[in-house]
Amino acid sequence: MFQIAVLPGDGIGVEIVPQAIKALEAISEKYGHTFNFTQGLVGGAAYDVKGHPLPDETLQLCERSDAVLLGAIGGPKWDDLPVELRPEAGALLPLRKELALYANLRPCIVFPSLMHASTLKEEVLQGVDILVIRELTGGLYFGEKSREKTADGQKATDVLTYSTYEIERIARFAFDAARQRQRKLCSVDKANVLESSRLWRETVMDLAREYPDVEVTHMYVDNCSMQLIRNPRQFDVIVTENMFGDILTDEASMLTGSIGMLPSASIGGEVGLYEPAHGSAPDIAGQNKANPLATILSAALLLRYSLKLEKEAQTVEQAVQQVIDEGYRTPDLAEPGKKILGTNEMGDLVAQTILKH
Ligand code: IPM
Ligand code: MG
Repeated sequence: MFQIAVLPGDGIGVEIVPQAIKALEAISEKYGHTFNFTQGLVGGAAYDVKGHPLPDETLQLCERSDAVLLGAIGGPKWDDLPVELRPEAGALLPLRKELALYANLRPCIVFPSLMHASTLKEEVLQGVDILVIRELTGGLYFGEKSREKTADGQKATDVLTYSTYEIERIARFAFDAARQRQRKLCSVDKANVLESSRLWRETVMDLAREYPDVEVTHMYVDNCSMQLIRNPRQFDVIVTENMFGDILTDEASMLTGSIGMLPSASIGGEVGLYEPAHGSAPDIAGQNKANPLATILSAALLLRYSLKLEKEAQTVEQAVQQVIDEGYRTPDLAEPGKKILGTNEMGDLVAQTILKH
């Protein structure tokens, strides 16, 4: 019996999370597991009811669960709140910190039948399979912040700090992950400008001695953003700091055709958190248009990393692949000749496909 905390959040979060639950229920039926889902409030939805985007009971629910499935948070309605009450800074970042989720995994795999959906050429995309590992609890996101008045306006500061311990911890994670894959690790930094990046690079180089079987390269982040588009196949595992990873994974999602396809796993602590890499998309919320596949694929990562159910994880991934191969699409991936489904219908179809698998 597994306890799963379910935090749909805001915007399309409330539409896509139920689709991932359908997939998990299909898995439980097929393989005889019991998943006990408990819903919690987070983000703007929590602020509206409880006055805080991360209520204590939600954090406690996460802490006593085996894994957390999250939808998306934020929206224009809460953008003008004081920063500590905004869904991003008041809920998502503290949740990552409290649960000690220092490793954010964003696998970026190109499904062959989605290659037309990308704005890039097929020959560039063929065979792309990248795992981006983003450090998630350090750097600019969590450094000291301040504002001061100056004679002619204001001054704002965000501090970027990394310790050897933090770098080594995520780098070790990435080396171990590379060992399970093609044994190629690219560490991305800005060591030509930033001191924290120079420590990053030195630390990764030191650790590399323990992993002689892994081929390590170092790349500046600006170059990496170019190489991801020029020749994405050169990458196997990428490891990078928090802010660079945020930006590079949005870019990498476009290799897959839609940001609606990119799942993510945040792990490192006792409880893992799984969420699509995209946001709450307020512009299409409530219209049954959102692509639930990133969330369903995040549920697959939940099965893999938190519940250690590898076969079940693959079943979910294969079902998603099959549905796409059969030509079913949500509107974000619409192409002439494809069958367009709403969020709910896509969720139903994936669940049925899992059961028939
Ligand atoms: C992500 C998101 C978040 C981040 C936002 C919502 C705070 O963009 O998970 O990539 O910047 O980490
Ligand atoms: Mg982001």
